[in-house]
Amino acid sequence: MNIDRNAPVGVFDSGVGGLTVAREIMRNLPSEKIVYFGDTARVPYGSKSKETVIRYSRQIIRFLQEQKVKAIVIACNTASAFALDEVQHDLDIPVLGVIESGAKVAAAETRNNRIGVIGTIGTVGSGIHASYLKKLNPEITVIGKACPLFVPLVEEGWLHDPVTVEVARRYLHELQEENIDTLILGCTHYPLLRSTIQKVMGEDVRLVNPAYETALELGRLLAEKELQSTGTGQEEFPYRFYVSDLADEFKSFANSILPYDVEMTQKIDIEKY
Ligand code: DGL
Repeated sequence: MNIDRNAPVGVFDSGVGGLTVAREIMRNLPSEKIVYFGDTARVPYGSKSKETVIRYSRQIIRFLQEQKVKAIVIACNTASAFALDEVQHDLDIPVLGVIESGAKVAAAETRNNRIGVIGTIGTVGSGIHASYLKKLNPEITVIGKACPLFVPLVEEGWLHDPVTVEVARRYLHELQEENIDTLILGCTHYPLLRSTIQKVMGEDVRLVNPAYETALELGRLLAEKELQSTGTGQEEFPYRFYVSDLADEFKSFANSILPYDVEMTQKIDIEKY
């Protein structure tokens, strides 16, 4: 298939969290255009079944294909854990999740082979990080901990609030006891809690941000497939945002975290896809 290298990259998530991934793509691959879809009508994915998350992901991918994207990034950790393997076979464009790139860096960084993973109930329950990490190095022990309250705290904007620090202490206590030296922030929202998590875990624990690692991996993948944009990055609408509900709320969250002003967010009926 002939893929247009100047087409946008499709990025999708269950809602606003995937903007942490879009933001890293904007920073690290500034000439790439992005079509972002946030499934704000059906968030959260973290407490839904694998079958449901696969169905939602397939619908969103059909929408992104209609937008003629050249590659797809599944920014949502839960959707990456549940759906990447399933959808990969259906697609003739490259598709990338956020789990593998984070796992690779964690495996390279750990010194004591004890890695923690925090994420949604779905992601942690899937055991996907452990299966990647064990393939990379069978000596690695993975300790997972679901931290479901982090998502609403981030969306409330309580990034450094004492309540958030206390919640982090309670969730992360177990991981501290396990003597991990590396911790994967396995959920879209957690990079926004980085400094709180670092404070609680201590400076000696290396935090891995899969959003950043995925942006770098996307750069490598586009280069390998000769799909990097040759554009100047000066297009009028390099970034387009679509949601399934609450477009205004999405826009204000986006404007609080992106290095760029989101002017337009369009609501679409994803159930049609
Ligand atoms: N985007 C989800 C993830 O990274 C977190 C929010 C949700 O549960 O949908 O797993």
